[in-house]
Amino acid sequence: MAAELSPIDKAKFVAAKRAVEFVEDGMRLGLGTGSTAAWMVRCVGELVREEGYRITGVPTSSRTADLARQCGITVVGLDEAKWLDLTIDGADEFDGQLNLIKGGGGALLQEKIVATASDQMIVIADAAKEVSQLGAFPLPIEVVPFGWQTTKALIEETLVSLDVLGRAATLRMNGDAPYVTDEGNYIIDLHLGRIGNARQMALVMNQIPGVVENGLFIDICDIVVIGHGDGKVET
Ligand code: 5RP
Repeated sequence: MAAELSPIDKAKFVAAKRAVEFVEDGMRLGLGTGSTAAWMVRCVGELVREEGYRITGVPTSSRTADLARQCGITVVGLDEAKWLDLTIDGADEFDGQLNLIKGGGGALLQEKIVATASDQMIVIADAAKEVSQLGAFPLPIEVVPFGWQTTKALIEETLVSLDVLGRAATLRMNGDAPYVTDEGNYIIDLHLGRIGNARQMALVMNQIPGVVENGLFIDICDIVVIGHGDGKVET
């Protein structure tokens, strides 16, 4: 399958394939969202259909739920699964401490809940996602629609007190309308350039009324599997 792929898709595919080697028969598995995670879902589907693995999948978005069902994976909600053995998901950025920015695909809330309810989280990523310091990728902040402009103003005010280069905050759009998450919320993307203290940023953002969750995953990821366009993989 990997032979006909573009280098970027090959990098995503080989990372997904390697991470799926951690999957065992009978596992309750958190299924991430995004183009890299989609490769992982397809690979898990192969284990189910071709090797007879009994996998219970908890998807992190409606998109992933649809794909998982198409691939023959049994899909349940998190409350039915209760606790997960492993979550495999993509990321928008990761640093040397395995801290992440996630939410480029808008699924950060379910992704963080599911990853936190897992014994282990493996991130799969192409090599371009590795950074020395998080923040070049816009940091997604999920907010409730009620009073979102006030919440945005409070976020901007808070950024003034933090060690960040940029302070621009933009409402994520879907054409002419705000982008709406699976939970019915909006996303405000923060264009920061560099996040000096990601742990502090994550804590401070979640204290603002109206903020539901932020896309910083601190101390959640256990392993990053990095795929390269030439098919090489490293962990
Ligand atoms: C979705 C995410 C994705 O994992 C992240 O955006 C990476 O996506 P892709 O694998 O398509 O680059 O956090 O909310």
